[in-house]
Formats: sequence, structure tokens, C-alpha cells
Amino acid sequence: MVNALSYVVVETPHLQAWIDQARDHVGLQVEVVEPQVCVRLRADEKIQRLLVTAVSGEASMGMGFEVSNAEEHTRLRQVLEAAGYAATDGSAEEIARRGVAGMYHFRDPDGVRIEVCHGLGDAASPFVPGRPLGGFRTGDLGLGHVALITEHFDELSHLYRNLFGFKVSDHTQAPFRVEFLHCNPRHHTIGLAHTGGPAKIYHLMLEYNDFDDVGRAYDMALEKPESIGVTLGRHINDHVTSFYLKNPDGWMFELGWAARTIGPEWQVEELQGMSLWGHDRTWLPDHKREEARQILKRLAAEGVRAPVVIPSHTAKARP
Ligand SMILES: [Fe+2]
Repeated sequence: MVNALSYVVVETPHLQAWIDQARDHVGLQVEVVEPQVCVRLRADEKIQRLLVTAVSGEASMGMGFEVSNAEEHTRLRQVLEAAGYAATDGSAEEIARRGVAGMYHFRDPDGVRIEVCHGLGDAASPFVPGRPLGGFRTGDLGLGHVALITEHFDELSHLYRNLFGFKVSDHTQAPFRVEFLHCNPRHHTIGLAHTGGPAKIYHLMLEYNDFDDVGRAYDMALEKPESIGVTLGRHINDHVTSFYLKNPDGWMFELGWAARTIGPEWQVEELQGMSLWGHDRTWLPDHKREEARQILKRLAAEGVRAPVVIPSHTAKARP
């Protein structure tokens, strides 16, 4: 059973642009592993949360999922292999760069690299954000969530639910098929969407502890409006207030705050929309943007709203 999204691995032809955005805009800590070749991005006390490596070819992103210990790591491999996913051991260098105790990897049906790890270690030094920040909300909730556009919805849903042990949080069929899945109290760690378009990474959500850090990231993005993929808004399901920032490889960071958490009493919901307000998807065709606008107007007319639940550690006083 997977406990959390532990880290992501990025291969990019734009390493320096990644470093600059991660440090100066998102506020991650950059630690150089090999100059011009590989950096670790830190979001907390862990050795890394994003491992970014330069490549000359196409950009890619893979995910590292964590299990509780070595026994579970081995057991899950057997489950995956019985289901037809041939896993390959991580090399000594891959394991050292990630700072994990063990790792194997395979490709999902869309070709996305999936790593299964255990024992992601703490760094030797405290976390120092790239810009003044109240930090990121990680811990037992994992790094954040990833939304994928898939060409193999049923196979991926089967992989996450029946092999990895995720549970459904909510879903919708319109305007296209979407399923949100959780593996810990974070409302969703994975979102799957079948839009009819080609498979791609849609976004990685990182959650700030402090709302002001979303606002400051938004101020910076407004200086380059073309960097905003989705405007400020609030999601209808996890209640995150966020906007989406395009990264140098064209997929996006969702930078958010105040996600609600869910427990074992959770009831699966059919979603009435994607957002309570805002979240204008600047990349959508005009008629789809208009459709989304009409949904927001209907929700507003119905008075649909959600309380803001502030995690206790976001409320502590800052110097
Ligand atoms: Fe999201």
C-alpha cells in the first residue's frame, strides 16, 4: 500500500530556468548535486522533494511513491509484477541522488515513470526556502498532488486503486471523465482525467502553509501574465485556494493553500464543477472557457460555498 507521493523526478532541457523559478518564485530550496546536470529541490526537512536533471531531449516527469518499509516494498513489487508491471531496481546512483533506502521503477500505461520507494531520508541541514516563506505543508500528507491527463483511464485507475491501495475521493463525467484518489488524509494525491487529448502531466500541486505566500507568488506571476495557466480560484473538492504557474517545460505548478483533509468516514461525491470561483483556464478554447464561466455563475446563484479550514500549524505567529 502506498502512503504518499514522496517526490517527483524531472528531466528537463531547461535546467537553469527550473532552478530560477523553483528558488525565486515557488520558494523551494535548491541544492546542487552536480553543476549544470542535477539539482535537488527541497520543500521541507527531506533530502529532496523534486530531483531535477538536465537532458538534451524531451522533458519528462515521473513520480516517487512511498511505502512504509522494506517488507511492504517487496510485497508491492510482487503485486505489480503479478499484474504485468515489470519493475527494475533503481541503480546505486539513482538511490543515492534521491536519498531513499530502496527504490524500483516501472512505466505506467501512458509511459510515465513510476518509482516505488521507502525510507526517504532527512537532509543534514534545516530547510531554507528560496524566498521568505512560511514553508510547505507536507509530512504525512506527502509532497502534494499530481493531476494526469491519461489515454488509459481504466488501467491507471486500476493501478492506483487496486494495486497501490488508493481510494476514490470524488469523480465526475462532465465535461470529461475525472477521478480524484487519496492514499492519506490529503483529499487527493492523484487526479486522473480523460479529455480525449494526448496523455500528459497536467500539474503538481504544492501547498503553502501561509495564504500570503500564494498571494506573493501570484503578484510575481502577474508581472508575466503569460506564465499564469489558471487564474486565482478555489477548488470545489479539496477547497484549495490556488493558481497555476507554467513551468519551463510547459506543465504547471498549482500553488495552493488550505486544502481540507479527509478521513475514513469520507463519502465519495459526484462533483458539480471544478471550482467554486475563479480558476479561469487561460489555455482552454473559448467555448470551453465560457462553459466553465456558466458553471461558476450557476454555483454562485445557488449560493454554494465552503468553509475555510485552516490547518493548525498555519496559524502560528511568524516573526
Ligand atoms: Fe490540483
